[in-house]
Amino acid sequence: MAVTPSGPSARTDLAKLGELELLELVRSHPVPAHVAIIMDGNGRWATQRGWPRAAGHKEGVTAARRVIRAADDVGLRYLTLYAFSTENWSRPAQEVSMLMALLERAIVSELPELMERNVRLRIIGRADGVPAPVQRGIDRVVNGTANNTGLQLFMAFNYGGRDELLDAFRALARRVAAGELTPDEITEAHVTRALYTKDVPDPDLLIRTSGEMRVSNFLLWQIAYTELWITPTLWPEFGAADLYRAVADFQGRVRRFGGV
Ligand code: FPP
Repeated sequence: MAVTPSGPSARTDLAKLGELELLELVRSHPVPAHVAIIMDGNGRWATQRGWPRAAGHKEGVTAARRVIRAADDVGLRYLTLYAFSTENWSRPAQEVSMLMALLERAIVSELPELMERNVRLRIIGRADGVPAPVQRGIDRVVNGTANNTGLQLFMAFNYGGRDELLDAFRALARRVAAGELTPDEITEAHVTRALYTKDVPDPDLLIRTSGEMRVSNFLLWQIAYTELWITPTLWPEFGAADLYRAVADFQGRVRRFGGV
């Protein structure tokens, strides 16, 4: 039997709706618990205007703020943003240090609003290699928001999906070596619990901006059955309405998880 998609996108031309109408529409259907975003295109956005790449990253921070508010307004439980990958260290040193300073400032200055909105910030990625002042700023906001019970905001920072898997496999190998577990006893649940995201449900929806058709070493284990939404919009131009349209489209999809 054919399954007819339902949800807001089946009945409405989403492109014609404004931000508030979209928010109302999306909130009248079950919203995904977890949305992950690859924020791409800051550099191109700036270059198109003849501006330095740093200007694109600054505008990218503003876009991130908009999207965190929108995610909270729509009622997501988890939002994961890919802020800095292990591969990003290979960018020119000046861009890396600019990004570090910008991300730290952006995170620290967000603390009052995160508290007001009851948002908890958590970091996924390796702490080693992150400059000490940046790590201190991050720790301050992670600790300050630790008891918040609203939106759980995960920032992937110095994050690599393969590194995360390696860390998990090493932890499991150590448990095998210690005699706690045999290789044949290892299940998917063991791997899931050994990841940085151990207590978080897999993303329901992965958004990537700037039109690239790649997953770029992001949440490799967790996105096995995640729905994808790729938009040509560059990250600095991505706004609340774009997030709502992606969620509305998701709400109209039929997920089979490999079944029929
Ligand atoms: C992607 O654009 C951007 C990054 C990898 C940098 C980090 C993200 C931000 C500054 C946004 C703010 C985030 C938070 C959580 C405050 P790109 O430089 O890869 O763009 P390009 O592909 O056009 O060069």
